[in-house]
Amino acid sequence: MSRIEILGLTQQFKGHRAVDDVDLVIEDGDFVVLLGPSGCGKTTLLRMIAGLLEPTSGRILIDGQDVTALPSKKRNLAMVFQSYALYPHLSVAKNLAFPLAVLRTPRDERDRRVREVAATLGLEKLLHRKPRELSGGQRQRVAVGRALVRQPSAYLMDEPLSNLDAKLRTATRQELSELHDRLAATFVYVTHDQVEAMTMATKIVVLDAGRIEQAGTPEEIYHRPASVFVAGFVGAPPMNLVPGVVGSIGGVVVSTAPGIEARLWEGEVENREVVIGVRPEHLRAADFATGALRVEGLVERIENLGSENVVYVRVGDTLLTARGDGLGGIRRGEPIALGAALERIHLFDRTTGRRLEWVPDADALPSVEPSVTVPA
Ligand SMILES: Nc1ncnc2c1ncn2[C@@H]1O[C@H](COP(=O)(O)OP(=O)(O)OP(=O)(O)O)[C@@H](O)[C@H]1O
Ligand SMILES: [Mg+2]
Repeated sequence: MSRIEILGLTQQFKGHRAVDDVDLVIEDGDFVVLLGPSGCGKTTLLRMIAGLLEPTSGRILIDGQDVTALPSKKRNLAMVFQSYALYPHLSVAKNLAFPLAVLRTPRDERDRRVREVAATLGLEKLLHRKPRELSGGQRQRVAVGRALVRQPSAYLMDEPLSNLDAKLRTATRQELSELHDRLAATFVYVTHDQVEAMTMATKIVVLDAGRIEQAGTPEEIYHRPASVFVAGFVGAPPMNLVPGVVGSIGGVVVSTAPGIEARLWEGEVENREVVIGVRPEHLRAADFATGALRVEGLVERIENLGSENVVYVRVGDTLLTARGDGLGGIRRGEPIALGAALERIHLFDRTTGRRLEWVPDADALPSVEPSVTVPA
């Protein structure tokens, strides 16, 4: 069991800061997902936690103990990496048992753990094979399994599912979540796949260019993104983000962009350049009559995903995306009217990109489950 504390952690490569002054607390039993685009510093951060890369500055504490100078093997962490290496001359069973053999675990205990892990990951029938006789996805599962046979203080995983096909990925994702529930262990898991992040994490840390953009529960990240970057990165299709202006007209605060108007609340504010955000699933025909935000446009394109439609709506220079199962019966080239409820409207400062908490009762967040539907 482990609580991991990261203080001012920085990794400076030649002329390039891959991780930039990161502060982060990973509580015991957390499933923390480090999420961000390629090159944002996820692997570098994980390698420093693992002890495989010495930080340029900053400190790492595990259960209160400063481990910054401690070598990897003394940190009692299990790791699965992006590029995993299995021992080619050993069978799957022996690969799985290897970490236990190193720890001189008794043979019957070793065999029992290997059988358990193999059952969890669907590797029972492959135990006698050599790595070269496995598919890429099967090898990856062996690499995950090798981390799971031990009971370390924390599991560190770097895109462990990246070589799996969609079906196996979903299944393994569920297995990892169940495993986390069962072990109540600390997981630090790197991915650029937001569905993995939303479905498994207790806490998501969104990174951009070596810095933390936002750390929070999946619900917070999804419903209250702290910046334009997070709003655009999490969610598929992404949130509609339109440059606009907030100002008062006759005591009503409105936010406008060409062809789009949102009446927010009563009061007075100074004019301010903003980015208006609405998620595709919150733009609904049913909300046109009553919605705080209303748009009328032309249907430019329709994608039928089976369970729902994604509709691209042209409003002046802007192309908005709406998504839902109530969007049937519409046709390309025809007019469409959509609305969004007040609490579904996000505002960001256009200069800083940071979220503006201007909605008076922003605490009364809609109690709706975050929906991350994966397009088929
Ligand atoms: N050993 C190194 N020397 C110099 N630069 C490096 C080194 N390792 C990584 N980098 C750079 O640091 C940045 C962060 O790399 P990192 O591997 O942490 O990204 P990542 O978020 O894991 O990306 P991906 O999703 O593609 O795996 C990148 O710009 C990368 O090119
Ligand atoms: Mg990486």
